[in-house]
Amino acid sequence: MKRVLTGIQPSGTLHIGNYFGAISSIVKMQQECDESIVFIADFHSLTVSPKPDELRERVKGVALDFLSCGLDPEKSIFFRQSDVPAVCELMWILNCVTGVGLLERAHSYKDKIAKGFAPNNGLFSYPVLMAADILLYHANLVPVGKDQKQHLEITRDIAIRFNQEHNAEILTVPEPYIETNVAVIPGTDGQKMSKSYNNTIEIFADPKAARKKIMSIQTDSKGLEEPKDPDTCNIFALYKLFSTPEQQAELAAKYRAGNFGYGHAKQALFEAYMDFFAPMRQRREELKAKPEYIEEILRNGAKRANAIAQESLEQVRKAVGLR
Ligand code: ADP
Ligand code: TRP
Repeated sequence: MKRVLTGIQPSGTLHIGNYFGAISSIVKMQQECDESIVFIADFHSLTVSPKPDELRERVKGVALDFLSCGLDPEKSIFFRQSDVPAVCELMWILNCVTGVGLLERAHSYKDKIAKGFAPNNGLFSYPVLMAADILLYHANLVPVGKDQKQHLEITRDIAIRFNQEHNAEILTVPEPYIETNVAVIPGTDGQKMSKSYNNTIEIFADPKAARKKIMSIQTDSKGLEEPKDPDTCNIFALYKLFSTPEQQAELAAKYRAGNFGYGHAKQALFEAYMDFFAPMRQRREELKAKPEYIEEILRNGAKRANAIAQESLEQVRKAVGLR
């Protein structure tokens, strides 16, 4: 049985880099594995002390966005991390087999310190909570972005160490799944699209705001009549995400022919973007009107997750001598 698990930080409005870099593969994965587990990592968010109301809103927003993008609660167990408190108990037990040195070497921790963050213990032990997230559900495969690779290595170290100490295969050692053939989606300035660079185009932006962002994409200064190179153009790179090979060839020919300005290309991109996300936008409008339905999905997911968690926690408790 192949169990795939991933956690999502509720850290803001989703952009098209997130969609093509992460969400679409999570949605695809649910079709291809035996069991898919997806949760919103709200305990992890506490490490950076968000405002309580903001955190609540963001969790609701992420749930709404993921369900709109195709996460199917029939195929995936979808829940809030904090609705399964067993993860904190497992974390404590794992803390007691985790060397401080292992955590001191974590890049994410070192980066935050280098930026002058006064770290709390939650930030320091963030990878142990992540290990507990994964090991509690005996996940085999964990799709994550490249930045999370080291956290997966720490999880593997912890699981191996625990199993060795207890001389039994109690915890499942997971494999990371890092999609390497996903292109880095460029932002409006041509750098990697990222909320830290203020160059994003949101998936569910109001159409007016999205159009404004698309119209602000940086290009070279070739005049309307000049032929243009689609292969070095940010607009074209984004257009490719939303179009068929035939549509791409058609737009590329217009670029090369001249008398086709970047304004025209941006308009084509805007239309393709709107068409691509139209069904997801529609679903989002429908779901947005039913917050109690989303809540029910998350509660039902938590019920299923708790059942798995109780069973594995029981084995761990027994192994360490708590009972
Ligand atoms: P941001 O850089 O905006 O803060 P996150 O770090 O929260 O984005 O990324 C969440 C997920 O989306 C990760 O799996 C990451 O790999 C993916 N992702 C983010 N930006 C891009 C991008 N420009 N291209 C491809 N994937 C991306
Ligand atoms: N740390 C991950 C991130 O920032 C989110 C996360 C928390 C996670 N727990 C997890 C991802 C378990 C995969 C598995 O993106």
